[in-house]
Amino acid sequence: MTANELRHKYIDFFTSRGHAEISGKSLIPENDPTVLFTTAGMHPLVPYLLGQDHPAGARLVDVQKCIRTGDIEAVGDSSHLTFFEMMGNWSLRDYFKKEALSWSYEFLTSREYLGLDKNRLSVTVFEGDEDAPFDQESYDTWVSLGIPEERIYKLPKEDNWWGPAGLTGPCGPDSEMFYDTGIDACGSDCRPGCSCGKYFEIWNDVFMQYDKQADGTYKPMARPCVDTGMGVERTITMLLGEKNVYETDLFADIIKTIENISSRKYTENEDTIQSFRVIADHVKTATMILGDENSIKPSNLGQGYILRRLIRRAVRHGLKLGIEIDFLGRIADSVIGIYKGVFDELKDRRDVIISELALEETQFRKTLEHGHKEFDKLLPNLQRNPKKIIPGRVAFRLYDTYGFPVELTEELAAENGMTVDRSGFDEAFKKHQETSKKGADKTFKGGLADDSVMSTRYHTATHLLHEALRLTLGDHVAQKGSNITAERLRFDFVHPQPMTAEEKEAVEKLVNKKIAANLPVSLKTMTLQEARDMNARALFEGKYDEQVKVYSIGDFSTEVCGGPHVDSIGELGTFKIAKEQSSSRGVRRIRGVLTGED
Ligand code: ALA
Repeated sequence: MTANELRHKYIDFFTSRGHAEISGKSLIPENDPTVLFTTAGMHPLVPYLLGQDHPAGARLVDVQKCIRTGDIEAVGDSSHLTFFEMMGNWSLRDYFKKEALSWSYEFLTSREYLGLDKNRLSVTVFEGDEDAPFDQESYDTWVSLGIPEERIYKLPKEDNWWGPAGLTGPCGPDSEMFYDTGIDACGSDCRPGCSCGKYFEIWNDVFMQYDKQADGTYKPMARPCVDTGMGVERTITMLLGEKNVYETDLFADIIKTIENISSRKYTENEDTIQSFRVIADHVKTATMILGDENSIKPSNLGQGYILRRLIRRAVRHGLKLGIEIDFLGRIADSVIGIYKGVFDELKDRRDVIISELALEETQFRKTLEHGHKEFDKLLPNLQRNPKKIIPGRVAFRLYDTYGFPVELTEELAAENGMTVDRSGFDEAFKKHQETSKKGADKTFKGGLADDSVMSTRYHTATHLLHEALRLTLGDHVAQKGSNITAERLRFDFVHPQPMTAEEKEAVEKLVNKKIAANLPVSLKTMTLQEARDMNARALFEGKYDEQVKVYSIGDFSTEVCGGPHVDSIGELGTFKIAKEQSSSRGVRRIRGVLTGED
């Protein structure tokens, strides 16, 4: 079976059971400063899981592009990928556990669909704790479907619970399905969730049946939802009887292209396997980000930083394979080919993808060249060291100033009969990380792709506008999205009808009054919980104990946000609403400009 057949079968199965097929959304969430990328199929559906009606109905099915970069260092093993597709079916206050699990089981095992061997399926259910009881209904459903009790594992919250999208809201137990790869179990307590490779997770059915309250208690919901997620790459791997995600039609052509460019064999040794996989995964993800409808460019901030990191890691692994010419564009073409007819936005945006990859790759190679030259300059001095050890702080300076990876310094050292004091380097690196932690928070917590002076001003103006709208129109005004360039801001918010001329004027006046008062902007880092406690505006997503940045503008506005912002707002000039129009049903869009700012 090909990935495309799998996607079609999934959609067919659920549409024939009353689900409406909806299209997947952008990888780059527009209205959420707390996550960088869409990380699960449920992400774009959060407002509907929270209670809004979906225009397509109460049963939905789709395939969603997702990116998770938390495990970037693990890429290269059999299952970790930074980009993957998640197939999902949803019940919005419609069917519940029995139907969801029965359909999952039928889809997995029926000959007409995936025809997986029933005897190799294991499942997990929530074991219960002080917050919520054992998930008896899921357990009983699995038993009734014929899964023997010894293959139904009861696990705690850390394995079988999907938390609320924000601090409060819908959440609940989940039930995961695993396929036995045939790899020998690693020991007596090997079970689903173990990383030895025996149990391969393919599907997760989440039952959002509790509404987590601000006081931390879980209130059962009268009309719960179902959220499921099945990984395309993992499932196709199992269907093909392969042991790792790279041996499928979603990667084969990329691997072949790398073999052609490098004149190396993928399976030559452990190191080549690792480098091929990292290049394949990272360039695919970079291509997806650049080809997205909300495409962003490499930078030192937020999503742009992740993109830069992916590209640079791919170039580095290319060097390990001996590739010294720019090659990422050729890999991107393989990616575009693989997803033809599936993600055609890639084809449409090919020029941007290829040119941005080339730009970043060329720049990084230059960086590496500078580092190389600097190393050569330092060499005579370094060689005077009788122990032939390059001090950690020197290796760190090459890294910090020239972006020269320590592995390269080690290679050059070895070529000259020397070694690098790696623990000294690690120490310098750690110290640097600690001192720049605040800056790093900014790097990883959203924020602007472009931190030019004007974009920064518009970013701060957006917070002022948000608050002014709430005060003028009412508390129902919730941010639905924002987009900022150096020329203007765009702000989408919930409001049922067009704003009147008086309302627009009142909002402008209020914003300009605050600007005239030159309120200071202050920044505090705290947990999301603490931010909520102080009534900061925060959008959904994120763990309650996660550190977030909270920007306050005088005592006018307080918002969880990645920044950056101006220091005091007097420099913003004069704010004007250039346009106010409908964005979608119940959502208005404001285009705002700042004039006379200097
Ligand atoms: N939201 C669930 C997951 O991503 C289905 O695993």
